[in-house]
Parts: sequence; structure tokens; C-alpha cells
Amino acid sequence: MKDAENPTIYLKDYTPPNWLVEDVHLTFRLAPQATRVISRVRFTPNPDADGRAFFLEGEDLRLIWCKINGEDVTPQVTTVGLTCEVPEDSFVWEAEVEIAPEANTALEGLYMSGGMYSTQCEAQGFRKITYYPDRPDVMAPFTVRIESDMPVLLSNGNKVSAGDGFAVWHDPWPKPSYLFALVAGHLVNLPGTFTTRSGKEVELNIWVRPGDEDKCDFALEALKKSMTWDEEVYGREYDLDIFNIVAVDDFNMGAMENKGLNIFNSSAVLANARTATDANFERIEAIIAHEYFHNWTGNRITCRDWFQLCLKEGLTVFRDAQFTADMRSEPVKRISDVLDLRGRQFREDGGPLAHPVRPESFQEINNFYTSTVYEKGAEVIGMLKRLVGDAGYAKALDLYFERHDGQACTIEDWLKVFEDATGRDLAQFKRWYSQAGTPKVTMREAWKGDCYTLTLTQDLPDTPGQTDKQPQVIPFAIGLLDPSGEEVVPTTLLELTEKEQTFTFNGLAKRPIPSPLRGFSAPIIVERKTNNAERAFLLQHDTDPFNRWEAGRQLAKSALVNMIGDGADPDPLYLEALTTLITDDSQDPAFRALCLGLPSEDDLAQTFADMGQTPDPQAIWEGREALRGAVSDALAGDLATLYNRHLVTEKFRPDAEQGGKRALTNSLLVLLTRRDEGAAAQGQYADADNMTQQMGALSALLANDLGSLELASFADQWAHERLVMDKWFMVQVLQARPDLAAGVANALTQRPDFTMTNPNRFRAVFGALSMNQAGFHHASGEGYRLMADWLIKLDPVNPQTTARMCSAFQTWRRYDTDRREMMQEHLQRIADLPGLSRDTSEMVSRILG
Ligand code: TRP
Ligand code: ZN
Repeated sequence: MKDAENPTIYLKDYTPPNWLVEDVHLTFRLAPQATRVISRVRFTPNPDADGRAFFLEGEDLRLIWCKINGEDVTPQVTTVGLTCEVPEDSFVWEAEVEIAPEANTALEGLYMSGGMYSTQCEAQGFRKITYYPDRPDVMAPFTVRIESDMPVLLSNGNKVSAGDGFAVWHDPWPKPSYLFALVAGHLVNLPGTFTTRSGKEVELNIWVRPGDEDKCDFALEALKKSMTWDEEVYGREYDLDIFNIVAVDDFNMGAMENKGLNIFNSSAVLANARTATDANFERIEAIIAHEYFHNWTGNRITCRDWFQLCLKEGLTVFRDAQFTADMRSEPVKRISDVLDLRGRQFREDGGPLAHPVRPESFQEINNFYTSTVYEKGAEVIGMLKRLVGDAGYAKALDLYFERHDGQACTIEDWLKVFEDATGRDLAQFKRWYSQAGTPKVTMREAWKGDCYTLTLTQDLPDTPGQTDKQPQVIPFAIGLLDPSGEEVVPTTLLELTEKEQTFTFNGLAKRPIPSPLRGFSAPIIVERKTNNAERAFLLQHDTDPFNRWEAGRQLAKSALVNMIGDGADPDPLYLEALTTLITDDSQDPAFRALCLGLPSEDDLAQTFADMGQTPDPQAIWEGREALRGAVSDALAGDLATLYNRHLVTEKFRPDAEQGGKRALTNSLLVLLTRRDEGAAAQGQYADADNMTQQMGALSALLANDLGSLELASFADQWAHERLVMDKWFMVQVLQARPDLAAGVANALTQRPDFTMTNPNRFRAVFGALSMNQAGFHHASGEGYRLMADWLIKLDPVNPQTTARMCSAFQTWRRYDTDRREMMQEHLQRIADLPGLSRDTSEMVSRILG
């Protein structure tokens, strides 16, 4: 029964649409409980299709009437759409449907949030607005008339006309339905203008609810920077007279690239010094850029079908990472991205949810907006760029835009452009798109005469539904240092294409120390016999900033593994190397802050699992606490001086330079708070005129079981700011001791300002609970129970967010029998629920395996 309800869709079954759309006219008569949508669509036969059968997707719609060429028709309507007898040749379809935006808590289709109307159509939300071929390979120009007494009425494209109670918008660029958007509300705007390289004036607006006007400046500046950058780096200009961004409180993801009308989770737009942290500013800048860049990589060139999602997402993530590296610090961006990749994508790739960058089947496409599609998808493009070089990449992209503008494309089209532009055969490289799993590359070394020999072996583990994998093309950047710390071989790109391959370096005076996988040139795991002395050496001498950080990280990890696994003392070599680095003021503060970060609890759990041991979440937590204590002791004498020397007291600027210093001082503050009973943190809390320092202080206090006064005063101060209160909810759960975390989370859900209909608030509590690994996995099972109880409550309200959050359980198989059985039981409890959403049902059954 389940399978009949939730059919699996396969990439191999793709067929072109029978009918194409020439143009679309939509009229919206907005009303919270009964909105009428009248559509007029001109269909024409697709010369590339075999059939003429006519099917329109449609869900949760009340069909009032429909006509073909002006004549009433009676279609066969099901829960997923309608079929109808249609003429042989082009015809006009008209229909009127009724929908209820106010009842729409799933936040897909047309819904209401904070008194305004908003839409979210990607991936398959347009079918909840009207009957339509809701697939990305059907592209058409849209004209939209909105009738409402709301003062601000927005849709895609340029505004054609407006008057009392209506507005008409026309988008000349053919687009798929997932890029449709409509907003109506009592909104205020921060206006701006941008003049394109060819001299076209574009009107810009950031639209927000009254009260949020003071949090728009940064987003507007980020938008202008993005527009300039895309012209300068990719030669891409904006193509409409107006570009609107709207902030919405209730939103399932970060933001959406609707043509000319980007809609953002308010957390991804709104910021000022007092309410937003440096990390928030950086994220906002990156998301504004990401959505803007989609205008070319996603909108002008879109996806043929949803299996090709990485075509737009991998590329656009890659582009926004390049942008951030240019705006801020390249090494810091790279290190943060790798942390995120290892923390989320490697975890996904190593568990039951593993899937290829281009999946081959799905039940619910919303479940494939994953770290694999996005982040590994971007890594694949980074590898391609390394392999063909900067000039080859630039040539290929020019060809991509020239050849495919206005089309709905595939990964095959994308790779062909690279083959044609560079002459390189990418048949083997394509395996990155079809084989799931993180490749493991083992290094073996030999030294003889003046020759250093390196043998690299690659292994790709089995993943659900995939075994016996073929070798991939792995760009392996490496440098060699001599024992004095001198670089004797600068970064060299080795191309590993076989299962095993040997590379030699001749003419070396002394046995070199390798610096492998510089810049993290491929999303792989490197296995190599090494020792801490060598890691400390690289931390000190490597010329590659990524690998210097990596060496420090490996030192920390091996120290922790020994402490947790064998009860060893903290490694003095690590403490010494870290102290040298942290006290060295010639080093970038942001880099030092990154080096102070310890491997995450989840990273350590995975490490133990990889060594064939059962991770103990409580022991991991204690080990990290102990190492933090040892670092605090090792730096003891220097902590206060370092902290004071880097404390930013000038007027807040959300830039990388000040942000780096605040990141460093906040990291030091956590260590300092262990020693001064909270004096410095209380001081910083009291003096803070910005959220980075206020939150940093609060967090340091809570991490040391202090801060109850500050916690209370924070809530009073910020009760009226939803986004700030999200931080308040989150930090308590994140910083709660393992035995208290579930209780803290539970208490927060009892508050009147906790709500399930706002995904940000729900994630503040339950996203934090899943990140607090020792709390979530506490032996009492309370973390599991609370999470499952609330996922069960959320599913009927918001399936998309429920399904995403099920991934908290994805690592269940790595734990001991007790924990495994508890998690399995809760997953089964969810799976057995009558009426469970397709989203959650697919996720839970994949996790259970
Ligand atoms: N395409 C959007 C992006 O990455 C993300 C997105 C996909 C999305 N589906 C969504 C956003 C649903 C909100 C809701 O830029
Ligand atoms: Zn995107």
C-alpha cells in the first residue's frame, strides 16, 4: 500500500513532455481562506515527444471550472492531477481553482506568514497553486495579475501596471513553474539601484515587515557586490528592470531564487550589529550571492528534471564559495567549507542516506536537497576546474552560457561543454556524479637514493544499492618539504585515475615530508601512516594554509582519540604546537580561531566507528571537556593578555578583519571562563554593543555552567526580536550538559513563544538537540524520545522540515545495542504512523534500511 501511495521515480524513465507551454496568464484573487487562481495557458505539441496524452499536475486544489478553447470540458481528476481529452494541435487551457493559503502550514505553494502571502514552488509546490505541467523542462513566459487590498503586490519580472487593489507583472524570460513567485503584504522596502556594465539601470528592493527596516542595509550591499562580481568574474549581467528580495519568517530553507523575486527566510536577510553575529552576516552575504547567481545558473539555464538538481545547486554553491573567498579570506572559507563537508556530507555518504551527487531515484524530491547534492556537487566542480585549469574552466563556462541559455539541461550537457572547450575526455570523471560514497585514498611512501616514491590506492566503499565501484579521477594536490621546513616541491597536481598508481619525485637531497591533498583538492579521506611529530612540523612549516590547519586538526584528533579510548593524558606536543600558534600575532586571528576549534563530537564518533570501535558519546564529551581544560591550562598565562589584545572595541563592522578578531576572542573567552569564574565573560556581556560579543559571552558562560542571570536578561532584552530569540533557544540546548539537554529542550517547548509552525524556532530547539550529541545520545534515551515525539507532532504540520530533521537518527547503526535499539524503536514508531507524509516516510525507511 505504502509503495502504491509513494511511487518511486527513476531517472532512466525520463521522457520529454508531450505538450509545451507558449505562455501563461495567471490571475490571483487573494483571500486567506479561499484564494481563486484563474489560469490561461497556451499549449502546443512538443515535436520531440511521442505522445499527445495530456496530464496536468495538481494537488489540494478545488477545481471550479475549466475550458479548452473557450468550451467547458470535464477532465478526470485524481489526488495528483488531471487528464483530459485535448485537440490534436495547439489550444488554450483555462481553469479556475480555489486554494486556502491560511491553512497551508507545509509552506509549499501559496501560504501565509506573519499576515502576508508568500509562495514557495521549488521543487513541486506550483501544483498546489493551479493545474499545470509542473516540471522544470516546461518553460514559459508568465503574466501575473494579483488582486488584493494588500498594499504591496509582487511577482516575477517587470511591473506592467498597478492600481487600486491590483498589480500586473510580466516576466519575459521563459521559466519553469518552480521559479514562479508571488508576495502580497504590508511590507516596507529599502530601495537601491544598480547600473549594469552595459549601462542598464536596475531597481533593487529589500522588502520586510515594518519594524525590520533597520536590518536591510547589509543585504542590499551584499546584493550589489554579488551583481558586480558576477559581471567581473563570469561576465553575467542582470536581465530585468527590477530585482526584489523579500524576507519571510516562516520558511523551510534558507532562500529561493524565484526569477526577479527572491524570497528569503528572514534569518538569511535581516541583520544589524545589535541583532546579528559575524557568522550571520557572512551567511547572509553568501546566501544573497547564491540566490542572485542562480539567475544564470539555475534560471536562464535550468534543469531538465530534478535528478539534475546538482547542475544548478552544485555550480551555484561553487560560485558563491568563490565569491566569499574573494570578499573575505580564501583559506578561512576553504577550511570552514571542509569542516562543513566532513561534518555533514561525509556523514551522509557513510550512512544509510548515501546517494550519488546525481541521484537515480526518489520518492520525494524535497529529500534530495542534501549536502551531497549541494556541497559535494560543488566539490566536483572544484575538481573539474583544477583538472582543466582556470583558463579551461572560463572557456567552458562561456560556452555553457552561450550554448544552453534558455534551456533545461542535464549533467551530460554540462560535461560536454567542458569536453568541447578543453578537448578533455570526461567519461571517467563522470563517475563522480553516479557513484555514491567517500573515496578513501591510502598513501604508501618509499625513499631510495634521491627518489621519493608515492603509491596511491583508491577505494570506494559500498553504499545502499551500489557495490563494486570503479576508480574515479582524483586530483591530488601535493607539496614536499625538506626536514628544515623548506618547500622542495611546490604544489603539484597528481591525477589518480587507476585503482593504484605510483608517482616519483627525483633529485631530492633528503627524504621529504609530504603535504598531501593541499587545499583539500578532492572530497576524499586520505589514509597515511604518520606521527605527531610530523603533524606538528606541518602545522609549523607548511606553505599551504589549509594543510597547516589540517595538521593541527589531526593532532587534536589523535590526542582526543587517545584520551577517550585509552585514558591517555593530553598530548604535550599538541598543546605546545597550539600554544606557539595561538600566541603568534603574525597569524591571522580568524585562522587561529579555527585552530582552537576541536573536532566535533560527531567527527570523533565517526572516527571510533571507522576504527571498529563503538563510540561512547558521554566519553567523547568528557574527553573534549578535558582537552579544553588542558588547552586552557597550557595557555593560562597568555589567555587574558591575548584576549585583551584582540578584543575589538571600535565601532562594529561586519567584515572579515574585525570578525576574525571577534572569533578569536570569543574562543579564548570560553577558555578564560574556566579560570576566572566568568569575570571576563560577564564583562564582555555587559559591555557588548553587538550580538557577536553578547552571544559569545553568553555562550562561554553557559558552557561553564554559569550565566543564568545573563540568560534571563537576554530574554527580556530581545523578547520582541524573533531571530534573536531563536539564538536564545538554541544556545541553551547546545550548551546544556549531556544529562540535562533533553530536559532543557523539553522545557523550552512549553513556552508560549515556542511554535511548531515556524521552522526556525523548531530548528533552534531540535536542530540544537541533534547537534548536542552527548545530550541527544544520552543513555537515558530521553533525547531520542523527545525528538521522535516532536517529529511525530510536526509531520502533519510541515512534512518537509520533519523529513529533514529525521537525519538526526541517520547514524543509529554505529552505536551500542541499547542505543541502537532505542533509536530503531523510535524510527519504527514514526514509520508506523497512519497518514505519515511521503517526505518523512521515505526518510525513515531509508534510515532504517
Ligand atoms: N533552490 C533553493 C536554493 O538552494 C533552495 C530550495 C529548494 C528551497 N527547495 C526549497 C528553499 C524549498 C525553500 C523551500 O537556493
Ligand atoms: Zn541554490
